[in-house]
Amino acid sequence: MSALPTIFAAESQPDLPLHEQLVRTLRRAILAGHLPFNSRLPASRVLALDLGVSRSTVELAFSRLEAEGYVRRQVGVGSFVAIAARANKPVVRKTAAGLSQRGQMMVEAGACRDTKLPSFAFTAGQPDTTAFPRELWGKLTQQRWKKDGQTLMRYGDPQGLPELREAIAAYLAQSRGVACDAAQILVLTSSQQALQLIAQLLIDPDDTVWLEEPGYLGARNAMLSAGAKIIPVPVDHDGLNTDISSTLSPPKLIYSTPSHQYPLGITMSLPRRITLLAQAAQHNAWIIEDDYDSEFSYDQRPLPALQGLDQAGRVIYVGTFSKVLFPGLRIAYMVLPPDLMPAFTNARSAFDGHTPQLSQVVTADFMAQGHFAAHIRQMRLLYRSRRDLLVSCLQPLASQIQPININGGLQFAVEVTAGKESAWTAAGIAQGLALRPLSQFYLGAAKKEGWLLGYASLNNIQISSAVNTLTDLILKE
Ligand SMILES: Cc1ncc(COP(=O)(O)O)c(C=O)c1O
Repeated sequence: MSALPTIFAAESQPDLPLHEQLVRTLRRAILAGHLPFNSRLPASRVLALDLGVSRSTVELAFSRLEAEGYVRRQVGVGSFVAIAARANKPVVRKTAAGLSQRGQMMVEAGACRDTKLPSFAFTAGQPDTTAFPRELWGKLTQQRWKKDGQTLMRYGDPQGLPELREAIAAYLAQSRGVACDAAQILVLTSSQQALQLIAQLLIDPDDTVWLEEPGYLGARNAMLSAGAKIIPVPVDHDGLNTDISSTLSPPKLIYSTPSHQYPLGITMSLPRRITLLAQAAQHNAWIIEDDYDSEFSYDQRPLPALQGLDQAGRVIYVGTFSKVLFPGLRIAYMVLPPDLMPAFTNARSAFDGHTPQLSQVVTADFMAQGHFAAHIRQMRLLYRSRRDLLVSCLQPLASQIQPININGGLQFAVEVTAGKESAWTAAGIAQGLALRPLSQFYLGAAKKEGWLLGYASLNNIQISSAVNTLTDLILKE
């Protein structure tokens, strides 16, 4: 008898039809890694006997999983798991903790920070906090505390401080071509909070979500924790491949990073943007536009946001100060179609009230007084020089690793073109390098081998010393 009946018995949800229970159980077991990539599922006849259900129930469940991309079936050979679970995901035992089904889904989806990686070179997504004007920030904080301390100590507007929303709306209109006013801005703690709110408010269990492949784990986790059925949509040199998406089941929601695809760094082309918007309008689906680091575009002006092209009001734009200011600040925002704002403000207030008032008002001052634009300009120059240095330091390794799409951001991806990603990753981590494998960002079986190399927070000496370590371990092989 296979291990499946045990999983099945432990997870049974008696109020659902049997084939549906089986689909959910298998999907969850695959995503949790209990059924590894390429493992063979029992024959439907055998499984039906083991479970005491009809063979057509099992057939129905297998066909559903095949249509969703979780299972590959080969006539005369068998059924196999078609996707790999996320690497490094903790194995969750269904136990004791008494978690709700939602809680269990959330824990199984995984956390967003990989605490196992060393925190030095090449951590991705880190701005240089040593280059931040801390004294100026401290002065602005003191001024506001002195002037408005009493008000700032009280409860604030769950939608966000009006001054900050005004400043964000003006910045987005001018720099990102976003069409919005302050009434459409919801100030949050993080983009992650935005993704969770969207998942909780717009996604029901089993709703289809298209996710870029490879894609951002924070988005994947948020959607999985709401029970979404994720369909990975491959990206190519023009971004999310809308030719492929046009053949997929209609989505309720699409997650995308059009300015600077995460993790591959591609800019989505204009024709693709227009097609994606048309597909969203056709299916009445929402698009999340995660514009996390477009300010750092080094070789050309970034394309304006997708949101500004949207005629149908389907785009939810998400931005963050984690990269342009500093991640410990914990301020991000979303731009919502007006109809959604009451529900989102309500939910935000129900989850955690609001973002701290003092940091909101200081951020608003920092923006209104021109420091924000100046800081971005300076950081763009600094990070560009670090990008250039990293590219040139990697030259001697050109026959083993190739940078891809180096035009912007705080990191770029490199592809391992000859060699062993996993062996080098382990050796690099042992030597203190935060080598984040590209394979982690894929749901399907076809993956690029390589790493995401963060450089923005490393000074020149740190960059060359980290590349020396990497070079030693690659050339030693
Ligand atoms: C694609 C993407 N979105 C958003 C974020 C920022 O998230 P937060 O605002 O939650 O710090 C990151 C950070 O690494 C990211 O890579």
